[in-house]
Amino acid sequence: MIDITKLTKQADNKLILRGIDLKVKKGETLAILGPNGAGKSTLLKIMAGLIKPTSGLVKMKGLDLRKNANEVKKSIGYLPHASLLYDHYSPLENLVFFGKLYRVDNAEERAIQLVKEVELSYFLHDPVKNFSRGMIQRIAIARAIIHNPEILLLDEPHTGLDQGAMTILNNVILSMKEKGTTTLMVTHDFKQAAEICDRIIILKNGKIVDDFTVKDQSLGMVTEKYKIQMEGVS
Ligand SMILES: Nc1ncnc2c1ncn2[C@@H]1O[C@H](COP(=O)(O)OP(=O)(O)OP(=O)(O)O)[C@@H](O)[C@H]1O
Ligand SMILES: [Mg+2]
Repeated sequence: MIDITKLTKQADNKLILRGIDLKVKKGETLAILGPNGAGKSTLLKIMAGLIKPTSGLVKMKGLDLRKNANEVKKSIGYLPHASLLYDHYSPLENLVFFGKLYRVDNAEERAIQLVKEVELSYFLHDPVKNFSRGMIQRIAIARAIIHNPEILLLDEPHTGLDQGAMTILNNVILSMKEKGTTTLMVTHDFKQAAEICDRIIILKNGKIVDDFTVKDQSLGMVTEKYKIQMEGVS
């Protein structure tokens, strides 16, 4: 589904990504862990088609992202750090806007359904500017999946969410997985990564330093592997 080879990104004479090779299968849920500044968000932005790589190849659904950017982007749901929502609009208006942008059939119906799924129906018509951080994050999640993307790119999706909202998000990811969606999730929350991901990669200084399958949702295993990489012991 995703095939990245020899990907590099340079900015201001600094190598942010230093040769990323990564294959992700359809339906797989992958967590990307790593310290601040490792290049995680940069990798997602390149995959979302927001910034261009310096060199290397990114293929999604068998298509070269450089040559088929528009086609590939239709299949991607991207949740960045910033919510991308319009402050003065309500959840319904925001979601209908994005739904129409992605040519979703029955955008309004779908928007109402999603707001219900993230349990904010009571606030359907209130301007987003009055929302708390967690509420905005819930609507941002709904926005990222309004077009039923085949590939979901989530940058720290659990940030700002309370326990209830975390469960909602995890259920969204798992139900999309059942439909065959491939998810890449950047996170600092090892517990969530262990619980919902099949596989984890650790990014450090722009390189993948570990890549392993999660067994029995073991948080201990994830913490241990991460510690080994950060201490530089191998
Ligand atoms: N446009 C840019 N120009 C110059 N440097 C950049 C640019 N974008 C990112 N960087 C640098 O690239 C490095 C990686 O940034 P990135 O945002 O990908 O890290 P990250 O792994 O997502 O970190 P965090 O966990 O803090 O979110 C950082 O050192 C950052 O300063
Ligand atoms: Mg980041």
